[in-house]
Amino acid sequence: MQQDEYSKDSPFPFVKFDNIQKSYDGRTLVVKGFEMDIEQGEFITLLGPSGSGKSTVLMMMAGFEQPTHGDIFLNGNPIKTLPPHKRGIGLVFQNYALFPHMTVEENLAFPLQVRNMSKSDVEKKVKRALDMVRLSEFGHRRPAHLSGGQQQRVAVARALVFEPELVLMDEPLGALDKNLREEMQYEIKHIQEDLGVTMIYVTHDQSEALTMSDRIAVFNDGIVQQLATPEELYERPANAFVAQFIGENNRLKGNVLSLDDNHCKVQVPNGDIITANPVAVNKAGDISTLSLRPERIVINPAQGGLPNIFDAKVEEVIYLGDHLRTRVKVCDSDEFIIKTPNAEGHPDLRRGDMISIGWSQDDCRALDAS
Ligand SMILES: Nc1ncnc2c1ncn2[C@@H]1O[C@H](COP(=O)(O)OP(=O)(O)OP(=O)(O)O)[C@@H](O)[C@H]1O
Ligand SMILES: [Mg+2]
Repeated sequence: MQQDEYSKDSPFPFVKFDNIQKSYDGRTLVVKGFEMDIEQGEFITLLGPSGSGKSTVLMMMAGFEQPTHGDIFLNGNPIKTLPPHKRGIGLVFQNYALFPHMTVEENLAFPLQVRNMSKSDVEKKVKRALDMVRLSEFGHRRPAHLSGGQQQRVAVARALVFEPELVLMDEPLGALDKNLREEMQYEIKHIQEDLGVTMIYVTHDQSEALTMSDRIAVFNDGIVQQLATPEELYERPANAFVAQFIGENNRLKGNVLSLDDNHCKVQVPNGDIITANPVAVNKAGDISTLSLRPERIVINPAQGGLPNIFDAKVEEVIYLGDHLRTRVKVCDSDEFIIKTPNAEGHPDLRRGDMISIGWSQDDCRALDAS
């Protein structure tokens, strides 16, 4: 709690991006007014589609690119004129490979030696870093004699070995298969927590971002669409892009009929009127995208229990082991998905069945038209 009080009174957070703009060609901005405050020890992820500006932000933080406008502050000091090697940041970039002519140990020792650390300290820290990524047996090998996953673990160890306060990682798990990738997500997260380092992490994999982050900045087209905790992004997406990008999402388009602070009525093209939670609509007459999570849909709800109850026709039932996906035709959509856990008592549905489905107002968010 003290930390919170301190940060509230402190004029500067650990890292501050202050209205950063970036253009490579002097005409188009690929980062548009990026603002973010990061507290010490936070795990921040930049998440977004390809080309949305994530790596550009990381490159500016590292010092390999300069902002066209604005500045970045580290510990309260502007860093625009500080060269990369003076920033004291640990890096795992895809194009920032291990030194091929050095062994794993030599690769890890390098950032310590350039900091003039004593030989015995170097040995101690290299050993600890190798243990941390579970590669103690591989210290004498050259990178070429390691698997892709092992090389990436060495790169992670090298970024952390000199105990930087800030670490940047750009798609560090990109080359790994699914199992190793998931294992490494937890490993990096635990190491980051144990060491208390601040992390800025880039990925375009939403489940990776949800697993690892304290907060996630969702990027699109050089603009942060929403900066929030994983839970908030999933439960309360601020707009249609975020709702679509994070998790699965049923979308219904309609016309706002009426609107007050707490609820709105939206009419979909087949005439059904849906009661929703107004999030990103302004007035009656607006076009809205209604967003509904598939696991929040109730099959055969008690009459009167929910404001939204509609007849639906089962089009397809897919068995997925731990859950069932039922595609139904409802409210002008035949792509409407319901997820039900495969637990005792789940409804036995068949193609062609007529059922009723319902959802609460809170679970139905009226977002922008896009
Ligand atoms: N060195 C460069 N010179 C010119 N344009 C660049 C350069 N680097 C990136 N861009 C452009 O800037 C935009 C943002 O690129 P950036 O690499 O930051 O995206 P990204 O979000 O990291 O994408 P990805 O997920 O594909 O890695 C893209 O349109 C890209 O083509
Ligand atoms: Mg990138």
